[in-house]
Amino acid sequence: MRFILLGAPGAGKGTQAKQLIEKYNIVQISTGDILRENVKAGTELGKNAHSYMEKGLLVPDELIISMIEGRLVKSDCKNGFILDGFPRTVAQADALGALLKKMGLALNACVYVEVPEEDLIKRISGRRVCNGCGESYHIHFNKPKTEGICDKCSVQLIHRKDDHEDTVRNRLKVYHNETHPLLDYYLKQGIVLKIDGTGEINDIFNRIVAGLEAGKGK
Ligand code: AP5
Repeated sequence: MRFILLGAPGAGKGTQAKQLIEKYNIVQISTGDILRENVKAGTELGKNAHSYMEKGLLVPDELIISMIEGRLVKSDCKNGFILDGFPRTVAQADALGALLKKMGLALNACVYVEVPEEDLIKRISGRRVCNGCGESYHIHFNKPKTEGICDKCSVQLIHRKDDHEDTVRNRLKVYHNETHPLLDYYLKQGIVLKIDGTGEINDIFNRIVAGLEAGKGK
């Protein structure tokens, strides 16, 4: 199974990806997570990406595309993958199409997770993430067992710098201008599976699985 999770910041892509990789025994490729790891490790890529990320802007396409090219050829992708947060521009989608073609692979679906803007703001403002493994929680909707501590690795949870209100508004603007047009892009390819992203996390997961298994989006 190979598919894209498309949706606004805070739509729940990362939350759903964590459950979907277990279900399908595939890997999650989150460009946001890879970039944050690089920023933390102080790599050249991290240094280049940091100033864009803290303003809520997209990191330049050429950096992202070469990062993905290097990631998709790794052996753990053989069983399949979920692309979470990639592609985000038409140039990235074109590059992904060309890369998959060269590899003799095709996407099963583009899962579009739809959530109203007022919910996105509530979700992002209450999000806390693990500073170790990156697991995502919410202070009201998805609480860890012990307040402020990751269930999985017991590391402290933090409030992402780009989750503060001004930056969130920028990220939403960038999403509408640059990324939302990909919905049409993949509708034209006939692979979109539209999912109502509101309600309980498990209900959304079940909707995605039911849609994928019915072959919708193909
Ligand atoms: P990235 O990390 O990809 O951020 P994003 O797309 O803005 O997505 P988020 O991580 O904010 O949201 P999500 O949909 O994963 O939501 P989550 O599951 O956490 O990118 C960060 C930055 O990196 C970008 O701004 C850019 O600078 C750069 N970047 C990354 N990829 C790039 C690319 N391809 N090109 C260029 N630049 C790139 O859920 C959110 C919260 O809601 C959580 O607290 C969660 O617990 C809660 N929640 C989830 N589901 C529910 C529910 N059903 N009900 C209630 N709460 C819920």
